[in-house]
Amino acid sequence: MIRVWTAGLCGLVMCLPACQEPVAQEGSSPGQMTPLEAYGRGEAMAETLCVSCHAIGHSGSSLHPDALPFRQFSWRYPVMQLRESLAEGIMVGHPDMPEWQFEAGDIEALLTYIETVQQPRPS
Ligand code: HEC
Repeated sequence: MIRVWTAGLCGLVMCLPACQEPVAQEGSSPGQMTPLEAYGRGEAMAETLCVSCHAIGHSGSSLHPDALPFRQFSWRYPVMQLRESLAEGIMVGHPDMPEWQFEAGDIEALLTYIETVQQPRPS
C-alpha cells in the first residue's frame, strides 16, 4: 500500500515541470505555428507595418524611394539573417525606418512571409 502511494507521488512530482512547460510557451512559441499560419501572420504584419514604405509582395515598387522591396532582400543577404536584428529591435540605422520590439513568434512569421515573396536575383 505504502509503496503504491510513494510511486504515485513520485510520478506526479516528476510530471509537473514537464506538464507546465508547453503552457508557459503558449502564444509566443514559433514551433506552434504551421507554415501557413506563419505566412498569414507575417503577411498581416507586413501589410500593417511595412507596406507604407516597402513593396511587400511579388511585384510593385516601394512607396519610400530608399526602401528595398521585400522580394529583393535575399539579393543582399539570407533573409533568416534578419532574425537577430528584428529581435534586437534594430533594423537599420535609417532615420525613416521605425524600430519595433517583436516577440519570437512575430519574427518567425514575418521572416516566413518575406521568404515566400523572394524573387531570384537577375543574372
Ligand atoms: C517609414 C518607412 C518604413 C517602414 C514603415 C518600414 N521600413 Fe524598412 N526601411 C525603410 C528605409 C528607408 C530603408 C532603407 C534604409 C537604408 O538604406 O539605410 C529600410 C530598410 C529595411 C531593411 C534593410 C534592407 C536593406 O537595404 O538591406 C529591412 C530588412 C527592412 N527595412 C525591413 C522592414 C520591415 C520588416 C518593416 C515592417 C515591419 C519595415 N521595414 C518597415 C523604411 C521603412
